[in-house]
Amino acid sequence: MTEKPAVLTAVEIEEITAEMSHYADKAAASIEALKIVQKYRRWVSDDCLIAVAELLDISPAQLEGVATFYNLIYRQPVGRTVIHYCNSVSCWIMGSEQVQERLCRRLNVEPGEMSADGEYTVLPIVCLGACDHAPVMLVGDQLRHDVTDDVIDEILGG
Ligand code: FES
Repeated sequence: MTEKPAVLTAVEIEEITAEMSHYADKAAASIEALKIVQKYRRWVSDDCLIAVAELLDISPAQLEGVATFYNLIYRQPVGRTVIHYCNSVSCWIMGSEQVQERLCRRLNVEPGEMSADGEYTVLPIVCLGACDHAPVMLVGDQLRHDVTDDVIDEILGG
């Protein structure tokens, strides 16, 4: 009988196992485990989520709940850089709609979509905690504040 091919790589399993060892309850490592998978694959597929849940000894539904709650875990393929524009109240007042429109027009996407070249995905996000510098975006792991058209052009290359 042939064995099922492993979904997770040996490196991913090793890193997740190391993370689980910090907690009495393996499930406490859920977010970090998902982040480890995402570090290598950019997003977390259903197969990976099921495999991680098995390692953590919880149900896929429980882990899906964690993944869905945490808005920096991606359950669909994303571009090499994810641009989150804040659309909470301070940023909305200061023009987040225009930020979103310019981003989407430049990349020819709707919010939530990946650009045709696979470089960028544009997603809304809740308050990033820099309201006094609204409007704010998270570009990859870099916070950009006081966003103007020039900042968007600089990020997207002219
Ligand atoms: S409302 Fe956008 S950073 Fe707080």
